[in-house]
Amino acid sequence: GRVAVLFGGASAEREVSLKSGAAVLAALQRQGVDAIGFDPADGGLVGLEALAPDRVFIALHGRGGEDGTLQGALQLLDIPYTGSGVLASALGMDKQRTKLVWQALGLPTPESVMLGPDADWQAVVERLGLPLIVKPVHEGSTLGISIVDSRDALEAAYRDAARFDARVMAERFITGAEYTVSLLGDEVLPAIRVEVPGGFYDYEAKYVSDDTRYHLPCGLSADEEADLAALCRDAFTAIGAEGWGRVDVMRDGQGRFWLIEVNTVPGMTDHSLVPQSAAHAGIDFDALVLRILATAGE
Ligand code: DAL
Ligand code: MG
Repeated sequence: GRVAVLFGGASAEREVSLKSGAAVLAALQRQGVDAIGFDPADGGLVGLEALAPDRVFIALHGRGGEDGTLQGALQLLDIPYTGSGVLASALGMDKQRTKLVWQALGLPTPESVMLGPDADWQAVVERLGLPLIVKPVHEGSTLGISIVDSRDALEAAYRDAARFDARVMAERFITGAEYTVSLLGDEVLPAIRVEVPGGFYDYEAKYVSDDTRYHLPCGLSADEEADLAALCRDAFTAIGAEGWGRVDVMRDGQGRFWLIEVNTVPGMTDHSLVPQSAAHAGIDFDALVLRILATAGE
Protein backbone atom coordinates (compact mmCIF):
# COMPACT_ATOMS: atom_id res chain seq x y z
CA GLY A 1 0.00 0.00 0.00
CA ARG A 2 0.87 3.64 -0.26
CA VAL A 3 3.04 5.38 2.35
CA ALA A 4 2.67 9.11 3.02
CA VAL A 5 5.83 10.75 4.38
CA LEU A 6 4.73 13.72 6.48
CA PHE A 7 7.26 16.51 6.58
CA GLY A 8 7.58 20.28 6.77
CA GLY A 9 4.79 21.34 9.09
CA ALA A 10 4.43 24.64 10.89
CA SER A 11 6.79 24.26 13.87
CA ALA A 12 10.00 26.21 14.40
CA GLU A 13 11.84 23.06 13.24
CA ARG A 14 10.19 23.14 9.81
CA GLU A 15 13.49 23.55 7.94
CA VAL A 16 14.99 20.53 9.69
CA SER A 17 11.90 18.47 8.95
CA LEU A 18 11.99 19.38 5.25
CA LYS A 19 15.49 17.86 5.13
CA SER A 20 14.58 14.79 7.20
CA GLY A 21 11.49 14.14 5.07
CA ALA A 22 13.28 14.56 1.75
CA ALA A 23 15.92 12.04 2.82
CA VAL A 24 13.30 9.56 4.05
CA LEU A 25 11.17 9.92 0.92
CA ALA A 26 14.15 9.38 -1.37
CA ALA A 27 15.16 6.25 0.56
CA LEU A 28 11.67 4.76 0.38
CA GLN A 29 11.46 5.45 -3.34
CA ARG A 30 14.90 3.88 -3.92
CA GLN A 31 13.60 0.81 -2.14
CA GLY A 32 10.59 0.58 -4.41
CA VAL A 33 8.03 1.65 -1.80
CA ASP A 34 5.01 3.54 -3.20
CA ALA A 35 5.74 6.68 -1.16
CA ILE A 36 4.52 10.23 -1.50
CA GLY A 37 5.51 13.35 0.43
CA PHE A 38 2.88 15.42 2.21
CA ASP A 39 3.25 18.72 4.08
CA PRO A 40 0.44 19.15 6.62
CA ALA A 41 1.14 22.90 6.66
CA ASP A 42 -0.07 22.99 3.03
CA GLY A 43 -2.71 20.29 2.80
CA GLY A 44 -4.03 19.88 6.34
CA LEU A 45 -5.64 16.73 7.64
CA VAL A 46 -8.35 16.84 5.00
CA GLY A 47 -5.70 16.65 2.30
CA LEU A 48 -4.06 13.72 4.04
CA GLU A 49 -7.34 11.85 4.30
CA ALA A 50 -7.89 12.44 0.57
CA LEU A 51 -4.54 10.77 -0.17
CA ALA A 52 -5.82 7.71 1.68
CA PRO A 53 -2.39 6.36 2.65
CA ASP A 54 -2.17 2.87 4.11
CA ARG A 55 0.59 4.00 6.45
CA VAL A 56 2.22 7.28 7.49
CA PHE A 57 5.93 7.89 8.07
CA ILE A 58 6.16 10.84 10.47
CA ALA A 59 9.19 13.01 9.67
CA LEU A 60 7.81 16.11 11.40
CA HIS A 61 9.76 17.65 14.29
CA GLY A 62 8.33 19.79 17.05
CA ARG A 63 4.82 20.84 17.89
CA GLY A 64 1.98 19.69 15.65
CA GLY A 65 3.94 16.66 14.42
CA GLU A 66 6.05 15.18 17.19
CA ASP A 67 3.87 16.12 20.17
CA GLY A 68 1.00 13.63 20.07
CA THR A 69 -1.60 15.82 18.39
CA LEU A 70 -0.98 14.37 14.93
CA GLN A 71 -0.64 10.89 16.40
CA GLY A 72 -4.10 11.23 17.95
CA ALA A 73 -5.60 12.46 14.69
CA LEU A 74 -4.08 9.55 12.76
CA GLN A 75 -5.42 7.15 15.33
CA LEU A 76 -8.92 8.58 14.87
CA LEU A 77 -8.50 8.24 11.09
CA ASP A 78 -7.35 4.64 11.66
CA ILE A 79 -4.08 5.20 9.74
CA PRO A 80 -1.03 3.40 11.19
CA TYR A 81 2.00 5.64 11.79
CA THR A 82 5.66 5.25 12.70
CA GLY A 83 7.10 5.69 16.16
CA SER A 84 5.59 6.59 19.50
CA GLY A 85 1.90 6.92 20.33
CA VAL A 86 -0.02 9.86 21.76
CA LEU A 87 1.14 9.81 25.37
CA ALA A 88 4.86 9.28 24.77
CA SER A 89 4.89 11.84 21.97
CA ALA A 90 3.24 14.43 24.20
CA LEU A 91 5.54 13.67 27.12
CA GLY A 92 8.67 13.61 24.95
CA MET A 93 7.79 17.09 23.70
CA ASP A 94 7.59 18.34 27.30
CA LYS A 95 11.11 18.38 28.72
CA GLN A 96 9.89 19.26 32.21
CA ARG A 97 7.18 16.61 32.61
CA THR A 98 9.56 14.03 31.15
CA LYS A 99 11.84 14.89 34.09
CA LEU A 100 9.00 14.43 36.57
CA VAL A 101 8.46 10.88 35.28
CA TRP A 102 12.18 10.10 35.40
CA GLN A 103 12.54 11.54 38.89
CA ALA A 104 9.59 9.48 40.12
CA LEU A 105 11.37 6.36 38.85
CA GLY A 106 14.72 7.36 40.34
CA LEU A 107 16.35 7.96 36.96
CA PRO A 108 19.06 10.68 37.00
CA THR A 109 18.19 14.00 35.36
CA PRO A 110 19.47 17.49 36.24
CA GLU A 111 17.35 19.51 38.64
CA SER A 112 15.19 22.20 37.07
CA VAL A 113 12.80 25.00 38.00
CA MET A 114 10.09 26.67 35.96
CA LEU A 115 10.57 30.36 35.14
CA GLY A 116 8.02 33.12 34.70
CA PRO A 117 8.28 36.86 34.07
CA ASP A 118 8.29 37.53 37.83
CA ALA A 119 10.73 34.79 38.81
CA ASP A 120 13.06 35.33 41.75
CA TRP A 121 16.20 35.27 39.59
CA GLN A 122 18.54 35.27 42.57
CA ALA A 123 16.79 32.24 44.10
CA VAL A 124 17.03 30.37 40.78
CA VAL A 125 20.77 31.02 40.61
CA GLU A 126 21.25 29.97 44.23
CA ARG A 127 19.34 26.75 43.68
CA LEU A 128 20.88 25.65 40.36
CA GLY A 129 24.31 27.32 40.44
CA LEU A 130 26.08 28.91 37.48
CA PRO A 131 26.32 28.36 34.66
CA LEU A 132 22.77 27.17 34.22
CA ILE A 133 20.74 26.45 31.14
CA VAL A 134 17.45 28.07 30.10
CA LYS A 135 15.13 26.21 27.70
CA PRO A 136 11.68 26.46 26.21
CA VAL A 137 9.93 23.34 27.54
CA HIS A 138 8.46 22.29 24.17
CA GLU A 139 11.12 23.17 21.60
CA GLY A 140 13.65 21.16 19.64
CA SER A 141 16.94 21.63 17.81
CA THR A 142 18.20 23.86 20.66
CA LEU A 143 15.98 26.75 19.52
CA GLY A 144 15.60 29.36 22.28
CA ILE A 145 18.16 27.69 24.57
CA SER A 146 20.88 29.68 26.36
CA ILE A 147 23.69 28.86 28.73
CA VAL A 148 23.61 31.56 31.40
CA ASP A 149 26.85 32.57 33.12
CA SER A 150 25.62 35.35 35.38
CA ARG A 151 22.55 36.32 37.36
CA ASP A 152 22.19 39.44 35.22
CA ALA A 153 21.94 37.42 32.01
CA LEU A 154 19.18 35.16 33.32
CA GLU A 155 16.20 37.40 32.68
CA ALA A 156 17.23 38.09 29.07
CA ALA A 157 17.68 34.35 28.52
CA TYR A 158 14.19 33.77 29.92
CA ARG A 159 12.72 36.37 27.56
CA ASP A 160 14.52 34.82 24.60
CA ALA A 161 13.15 31.35 25.42
CA ALA A 162 9.66 32.80 26.04
CA ARG A 163 9.55 33.88 22.39
CA PHE A 164 9.32 30.17 21.54
CA ASP A 165 7.11 28.86 24.31
CA ALA A 166 4.79 29.91 27.11
CA ARG A 167 6.59 27.45 29.40
CA VAL A 168 10.28 28.01 30.10
CA MET A 169 12.55 26.16 32.49
CA ALA A 170 15.99 26.62 33.99
CA GLU A 171 18.09 23.50 34.41
CA ARG A 172 21.29 22.75 36.30
CA PHE A 173 24.15 22.70 33.77
CA ILE A 174 26.17 19.50 33.68
CA THR A 175 29.77 20.22 32.80
CA GLY A 176 31.19 17.31 30.86
CA ALA A 177 30.63 15.40 27.67
CA GLU A 178 27.48 15.06 25.59
CA TYR A 179 26.29 11.65 24.40
CA THR A 180 23.33 10.57 22.37
CA VAL A 181 21.83 7.10 22.10
CA SER A 182 19.50 5.96 19.34
CA LEU A 183 16.88 3.27 19.80
CA LEU A 184 15.48 1.22 16.94
CA GLY A 185 12.87 -1.36 17.87
CA ASP A 186 14.41 -3.58 20.53
CA GLU A 187 17.91 -2.52 19.60
CA VAL A 188 20.00 0.15 21.32
CA LEU A 189 22.40 1.50 18.69
CA PRO A 190 25.99 2.56 19.43
CA ALA A 191 26.31 5.76 21.48
CA ILE A 192 27.81 8.85 19.87
CA ARG A 193 29.81 11.48 21.74
CA VAL A 194 29.21 14.91 20.31
CA GLU A 195 31.98 17.46 20.54
CA VAL A 196 31.68 21.06 19.47
CA PRO A 197 35.14 22.64 19.45
CA GLY A 198 34.97 25.70 21.70
CA GLY A 199 31.23 25.71 21.94
CA PHE A 200 27.76 24.44 22.49
CA TYR A 201 25.81 21.92 20.40
CA ASP A 202 23.31 24.50 19.20
CA TYR A 203 21.31 24.88 15.98
CA GLU A 204 24.36 26.06 14.05
CA ALA A 205 26.51 23.18 15.31
CA LYS A 206 23.71 20.70 14.57
CA TYR A 207 22.84 21.63 11.02
CA VAL A 208 25.25 24.15 9.57
CA SER A 209 28.79 23.81 10.88
CA ASP A 210 31.23 21.22 9.61
CA ASP A 211 33.36 21.59 12.77
CA THR A 212 31.11 19.51 15.01
CA ARG A 213 32.77 16.17 15.75
CA TYR A 214 30.85 12.94 16.15
CA HIS A 215 32.86 10.32 18.01
CA LEU A 216 31.76 6.84 17.03
CA PRO A 217 32.84 4.65 18.76
CA CYS A 218 32.18 7.08 21.57
CA GLY A 219 35.26 6.27 23.66
CA LEU A 220 33.50 4.73 26.69
CA SER A 221 34.57 1.31 27.96
CA ALA A 222 32.29 -1.59 27.03
CA ASP A 223 30.87 -1.65 30.58
CA GLU A 224 30.21 2.07 30.61
CA GLU A 225 28.53 1.94 27.24
CA ALA A 226 26.37 -0.96 28.39
CA ASP A 227 25.32 1.08 31.44
CA LEU A 228 24.52 4.04 29.22
CA ALA A 229 22.49 1.86 26.84
CA ALA A 230 20.48 0.37 29.73
CA LEU A 231 19.84 3.83 31.18
CA CYS A 232 18.62 5.14 27.83
CA ARG A 233 16.37 2.11 27.31
CA ASP A 234 14.86 2.74 30.77
CA ALA A 235 14.45 6.46 30.03
CA PHE A 236 12.74 5.69 26.73
CA THR A 237 10.31 3.12 28.11
CA ALA A 238 9.62 5.28 31.20
CA ILE A 239 7.64 7.71 29.05
CA GLY A 240 6.10 4.89 27.00
CA ALA A 241 8.10 5.65 23.86
CA GLU A 242 8.08 3.03 21.11
CA GLY A 243 9.49 2.18 17.70
CA TRP A 244 12.43 4.49 17.42
CA GLY A 245 13.88 7.58 19.01
CA ARG A 246 16.95 9.18 20.54
CA VAL A 247 17.91 9.95 24.13
CA ASP A 248 20.31 12.80 24.88
CA VAL A 249 22.58 12.47 27.91
CA MET A 250 25.37 14.40 29.66
CA ARG A 251 28.24 12.74 31.52
CA ASP A 252 29.75 14.74 34.36
CA GLY A 253 33.37 14.85 35.51
CA GLN A 254 32.75 11.96 37.93
CA GLY A 255 31.50 9.74 35.11
CA ARG A 256 27.83 9.95 36.12
CA PHE A 257 25.24 10.06 33.35
CA TRP A 258 22.38 12.59 33.44
CA LEU A 259 19.32 12.25 31.20
CA ILE A 260 18.42 15.39 29.29
CA GLU A 261 15.58 14.53 26.92
CA VAL A 262 13.91 12.04 24.59
CA ASN A 263 13.33 12.87 20.93
CA THR A 264 10.48 10.77 19.56
CA VAL A 265 11.03 11.93 15.97
CA PRO A 266 14.78 12.54 15.79
CA GLY A 267 16.41 14.29 12.85
CA MET A 268 17.07 12.25 9.71
CA THR A 269 19.14 14.83 7.81
CA ASP A 270 22.59 14.06 6.46
CA HIS A 271 24.09 15.71 9.59
CA SER A 272 21.80 13.77 11.93
CA LEU A 273 22.76 11.36 14.67
CA VAL A 274 20.43 8.36 14.30
CA PRO A 275 21.59 7.63 10.72
CA GLN A 276 25.24 7.87 11.82
CA SER A 277 24.71 5.51 14.72
CA ALA A 278 22.75 3.04 12.58
CA ALA A 279 25.48 3.07 9.92
CA HIS A 280 28.03 2.18 12.59
CA ALA A 281 25.85 -0.80 13.52
CA GLY A 282 25.81 -1.92 9.88
CA ILE A 283 22.35 -0.53 9.08
CA ASP A 284 22.55 1.75 6.04
CA PHE A 285 20.17 4.69 5.60
CA ASP A 286 17.69 2.83 3.39
CA ALA A 287 17.57 -0.15 5.73
CA LEU A 288 17.09 2.22 8.68
CA VAL A 289 14.15 3.91 6.98
CA LEU A 290 12.54 0.55 6.19
CA ARG A 291 12.99 -0.57 9.80
CA ILE A 292 11.35 2.62 11.06
CA LEU A 293 8.52 2.19 8.56
CA ALA A 294 7.96 -1.31 9.92
CA THR A 295 7.11 0.23 13.32
CA ALA A 296 3.90 1.67 11.82
CA GLY A 297 0.94 -0.28 13.09
CA GLU A 298 2.92 -2.54 15.39
N1 DAL B 1 14.73 17.80 17.29
C1 DAL B 1 15.72 17.34 16.35
C2 DAL B 1 15.14 17.14 15.00
C3 DAL B 1 16.42 16.12 16.83
O1 DAL B 1 16.26 15.79 17.96
O2 DAL B 1 17.13 15.50 16.05
MG1 MG C 1 14.93 17.58 21.25
